[in-house]
Amino acid sequence: MDIPRIFNITESAHRIHNPFTPDKYATLGEALRLQPEARVLDLGSGSGEMLCTWARDHGITGTGVDMSPLFTGQAKRRAEELGVAHQLTFIHDDAAGYVSDDKVSVAACVGATWIGGGVAGTIALLARSLRAGGIILVGEPYWRQLPPTEDVARGCLASSISDFLPLPELLALFGDLGYDVVEMVLANQDGWDRYEAAKWLTMRCWLEANPDDELAQQVRAQLTSEPVRYATYTREYMGWGVFALMAR
Ligand SMILES: C[S@@+](CC[C@H](N)C(=O)[O-])C[C@H]1O[C@@H](n2cnc3c(N)ncnc32)[C@H](O)[C@@H]1O
Repeated sequence: MDIPRIFNITESAHRIHNPFTPDKYATLGEALRLQPEARVLDLGSGSGEMLCTWARDHGITGTGVDMSPLFTGQAKRRAEELGVAHQLTFIHDDAAGYVSDDKVSVAACVGATWIGGGVAGTIALLARSLRAGGIILVGEPYWRQLPPTEDVARGCLASSISDFLPLPELLALFGDLGYDVVEMVLANQDGWDRYEAAKWLTMRCWLEANPDDELAQQVRAQLTSEPVRYATYTREYMGWGVFALMAR
């Protein structure tokens, strides 16, 4: 079981697989006032940076579930490196439908809401693992500027303008689903650069090491086109944030 191989190639050197930088995860951890007794579930935990740094900085315990064996392995090694492996469990699995046996105080899905079929479905899934009074974290893109045309939305790698909402409408959606938005930390363009531009050097190095791989042509084409596409579209139009929600 794995995610499409192209992501394991382009994001193999990422510690954080979204437009957050380490300071944003630190800000979020502080904003949530995490205590050592907090138990955190993270669906689509990637290379585990959120759980590992929060375990180090706040003493939390937690579980991460991710479908990429590469990222899950990196998460386990990062936990060892930070001396928090005894506080965390990283599971290689499909997180669709994953519900933890023990209820958690924070249930998160940070940048992978397709796991629950969209924002509403993911919130409903996370709620099944949450103790009463707990916090749900959703990491999700939004339109920083509404694309003027569907072509511009596709330039952002969305299938349509309707894939995402402007920030006020996304916040209103959380309310419509019965949740108070109790905190939010937003990425900025520097963070988008760390997420997107970091793929380019990884792709270049991978191409030099794997010139005859079956994905070499695809990676070559992506490396050629991505900088201009990204600067024209994603960097200008897309925002991204993590939203903390509590049931009303
Ligand atoms: C945008 S990344 C976010 C990773 C992580 N939350 C972070 O902040 O670095 C999306 C993650 O979802 C994982 N993923 C994709 N589909 C999944 C699924 N069905 N079940 C579990 N993980 C999945 C990918 O392997 C990837 O690590």
